[in-house]
Amino acid sequence: MSTATTGVRLYKLGPADQIPLGEGRAFAISDHQVAVFRLRDGQIRALSAVCPHRGGPLADGLTDSQQVICPLHNHAFRLIDGHCTTGAPSVQAYHVRVDNGELVLHLHAQLDP
Ligand code: FES
Repeated sequence: MSTATTGVRLYKLGPADQIPLGEGRAFAISDHQVAVFRLRDGQIRALSAVCPHRGGPLADGLTDSQQVICPLHNHAFRLIDGHCTTGAPSVQAYHVRVDNGELVLHLHAQLDP
């Protein structure tokens, strides 16, 4: 039986300003579909891009400073942690930051020792 350690992999996604303020973009990273949002105040958030209700594209949802609304049936997900405030399952939240104008996503990965 092998043991696994948890590591973090960093993925550069390109310039932050490729995402207009107040909008989101979907990225395929490893086997993850990630929606990255650039809020109107300049903060960056990232959630799983696929709505757990019926697979709606969360990157195309309406955002405010707190949440994104799925464009298909209006379930709402908190941008800070992916919690659904309207009764659907939650989505995964990812750590994302801007480094010298570039988006950097942190993904936790199971690594063999
Ligand atoms: S698919 Fe997102 S609310 Fe239904």
